[in-house]
Amino acid sequence: MTKSALCVIFKVMRKLTDKLAQERILSRGEFAELLTCEDDYLHEAARKARENIYGNKIFLRGLIEFTSYCKNDCFYCGLRRSNSSAARYRLSKEQILNCCDEGYDAGYRTFVLQGGEDAFFTDEILTDIIRAIKCKYPDCALTLSTGERGFESLKLLREAGADRYLLRHETADSAHYAELHPPEMQASARQKCLRDLKELGFQTGCGFMVGSPKQTLENIVSDLLFIKELDPEMVGVGPFIPHSATPFAKEKAGNLKLVLNILAILRLMKPSLLLPATTALATIENQGYELGINAGANVIMQNISPLTAREKYKIYDNKIGASENLKQRIKNIGCEFTVARGDYFNYGEQ
Ligand code: 5AD
Repeated sequence: MTKSALCVIFKVMRKLTDKLAQERILSRGEFAELLTCEDDYLHEAARKARENIYGNKIFLRGLIEFTSYCKNDCFYCGLRRSNSSAARYRLSKEQILNCCDEGYDAGYRTFVLQGGEDAFFTDEILTDIIRAIKCKYPDCALTLSTGERGFESLKLLREAGADRYLLRHETADSAHYAELHPPEMQASARQKCLRDLKELGFQTGCGFMVGSPKQTLENIVSDLLFIKELDPEMVGVGPFIPHSATPFAKEKAGNLKLVLNILAILRLMKPSLLLPATTALATIENQGYELGINAGANVIMQNISPLTAREKYKIYDNKIGASENLKQRIKNIGCEFTVARGDYFNYGEQ
């Protein structure tokens, strides 16, 4: 492409970026154009938008993968029930509290309990664990990522003290959803659950994989519009990565640049979003955390599960563990971690 043709394209992209920053929304066609943008301007604008709200502070979350059992059979996930080669484990309440003890000493002020959909963790068992963590660490936030549950169940978890809940919507398009999940799973059920979470006052996170099989740019635009409408406090977006023991073993991983553009677009759409540079992003690219933050992310989750559990919790191949000298790496790009709960900006004050 000639230099002048590139200049014209950049001009259009800058216009779209400015429009998104001002109006927080674009038409479907404009979103599609911006998604494939090659201009750094988009990322610069996203960084500025993040800095306006959160300065150069990056929030750390301590991730505790407490059960690898799952009743679901999602085609993309290594923990799917049909994967008989997956190693299964559950952490006890004591083991979970030990993770929190170590995490607290290391400076974590948010714990994320993440697991497969495991019927062992009834409302009674889970609320007991939530209360124990919140009683021991009242200054910490507790995030749950325990799949779809009914309204009454979620209400009990909220009343027990859980502050936030992550439940990726996976894809807002129900036909695409059916390409990724067995028939007993429905996009509408996920979305209902997300609305319940919002109603119950959880800081709520949805999200999706980039480059999942059969995903189109149009699908991603639908995801962005769904997010605009749901108005969540957090959004998790990372590349799809194939797992060798799933029906998608031979599929390609998601595209790095597309993930970064989506992060930047989300930051401009919702400047106060809690937006992680995900483990999946750092798995497909050595500098994934830095690139994610430079595209507008402001959260990093680090695994604080016992080492024996980490080896077993494999949702995709080659998943990286906790990163060494992360503090320095983040400093190198002009940001710093903060020992803080890291709630959504002004949460509870509006
Ligand atoms: N690649 C990337 N992300 C995945 N997830 C599950 N399987 C994969 C995979 N193969 C994501 C899903 C899920 C979250 C916990 O992990 O979006 O919601």
